[in-house]
Amino acid sequence: MSDPKVVWHDHSVTRDERERLNGHRGCVVWFTGLSGSGKSTVANLVEQNLFHAGVRTYLLDGDNVRHGLNATPQMLAERHDAEFAERFGLGFGSQDREENIRRIGAVAKLFCEAGLVTLTAFVSPYRRDRQAVREMLAPGDFVEVFVDTPLEVCESRDPKGLYKKARAGEIKNFTGIDDPYEAPNAAELTLPGGEGSAEELADLVVGFLRKQGKLG
Ligand code: PPS
Repeated sequence: MSDPKVVWHDHSVTRDERERLNGHRGCVVWFTGLSGSGKSTVANLVEQNLFHAGVRTYLLDGDNVRHGLNATPQMLAERHDAEFAERFGLGFGSQDREENIRRIGAVAKLFCEAGLVTLTAFVSPYRRDRQAVREMLAPGDFVEVFVDTPLEVCESRDPKGLYKKARAGEIKNFTGIDDPYEAPNAAELTLPGGEGSAEELADLVVGFLRKQGKLG
């Protein structure tokens, strides 16, 4: 992307210097999977584990980011007029999801360049959007973790009652029901989401990151 009116400035404190201070490199650990697959639960456990091991982390979680930076039109309508809310809010249509993931990717890149092990937990259902984030980052900085929990399991958990609403036609474009989830073809790590506890899955992620030399 370029625009002659906008010029990039290099930071005076470099990424290498920040990483030396932290004692490990920055990276983006990108959890993807269906709603109810356990992404957020596992990512939170991984973050706790890393934090207690002295690793500098930050977790960007789907629901939380949609409370602020990427608020839905309905949320924005509480404080703005309908036109503003529709223009700047992000719903769950394919273009809105693309923009959601693009913005998260850009934010994750900033955290990564600040030298943090940045964890993200978004459905991020479309392969091309996840690929675009991978390409936004330096080679090796993107670690895709597919939380591979079968739809039947996610639907039986239904923690927010959204699958029930989607089946009843009360929510449209619900991932896995009437909108596709495109599973990764070559994720760095695939977790058997329907088997084992969240703690066991989190341990798999931490073990993988350690083995890959991501934790210093
Ligand atoms: S996306 O696809 O990456 O832009 O979605 P994300 O920002 O991760 O938000 C997903 C959470 O929003 C709830 N929700 C929906 N999910 C999928 N499809 C539709 N239509 C939808 N509407 C609301 C859902 O609870 C997701 O939360 P998680 O934590 O993943 O269960």
